[in-house]
Amino acid sequence: MSKLNEVPKESHNKSQWFGITTLFLIALIAYLFVTAPPPLPDSTISGTIISVNEMFKILNAENQAVRTKWTKTVSDGKKAGLKFNENWRQEGEDAGPLPALFLRETGNTLVQAPTLLRLFLGSDFPIVAANLLKGAQRKMLDEIRATKKPQFFYDESTKNYIAMFPDYAVSMGCVDCHNKHPNSSKTDWHLNDIMGATTWSFPKEFVSTEDVLKNISYLRSGFTTAYASYLKKVETFKQKPEIGAKWPDAGFFMPNLEVFAETYEKTNSNPSLVELTKLIYSEPTVNKKNDREAASF
Ligand code: HEC
Repeated sequence: MSKLNEVPKESHNKSQWFGITTLFLIALIAYLFVTAPPPLPDSTISGTIISVNEMFKILNAENQAVRTKWTKTVSDGKKAGLKFNENWRQEGEDAGPLPALFLRETGNTLVQAPTLLRLFLGSDFPIVAANLLKGAQRKMLDEIRATKKPQFFYDESTKNYIAMFPDYAVSMGCVDCHNKHPNSSKTDWHLNDIMGATTWSFPKEFVSTEDVLKNISYLRSGFTTAYASYLKKVETFKQKPEIGAKWPDAGFFMPNLEVFAETYEKTNSNPSLVELTKLIYSEPTVNKKNDREAASF
């Protein structure tokens, strides 16, 4: 008797489910084909369109501010008893990344992000062979040294728009370490020399302001990710600095992730917004084309 009762109950449940599913599908089809809003326009065509060179300038200013801050942090940190070197990732090495390696960490996270933006620090006389500038970029470094200006061009071999910004020996720390390094291919660097260039590449000549914002955001998460890997390494140190609100200019301290991120956001956000606002509201888009043509070779 109970068996007989169960069968119709089950099939009743099934048909109820079938009914609900069918109703849901009909509702979904009606929504998609009748009432759904039109798809959003491609992000690449929304907003103001600007030359990729303008995006490079904004991104480089952001990166330069973080590079300067990190260089100071390394120098203050060393005075406070912290170590920074090129083997910082090795086990048992209680150290953090040098400025060039912090930049490389940031660049590596861009490769993982959904963007074709790339960042690289190179030189004609590098410590590490992989940082040797080649081809058009090598030639452009001479131009940067001669003009003391960034260079913008299209690299046919990689089909990328390139921006190269001078990397100055801003302190004796840069000069001394490079001159004394056993693998350095040049040992007579001087203060304020252009030691290399920060190279940016992107495959599009023009970008939307939304693309600029996205790339700023990927770059900033690159800074945060790079710093987070340092903090992770600190956890394994025998003698750990105090992690909190203070920077190493105050002693054996390092900022926590929030303080680190807040600091660069405070430094970078206003100048970037001012630049973007100028680009959107003051210059007509047609002028941007000439900019790129004048800069190309
Ligand atoms: C304590 C040593 C040290 C200090 C200080 C230092 N660097 Fe370096 N730098 C290195 C090392 C080591 C590398 C190679 C890192 C790598 O790619 O593995 C490097 C890489 C570079 C590169 C890429 C080309 C190359 O040589 O491999 C440039 C450009 C550069 N540094 C410029 C600077 C500037 C400018 C400063 C100062 C703001 C500076 N460095 C401070 C050690 C140092």
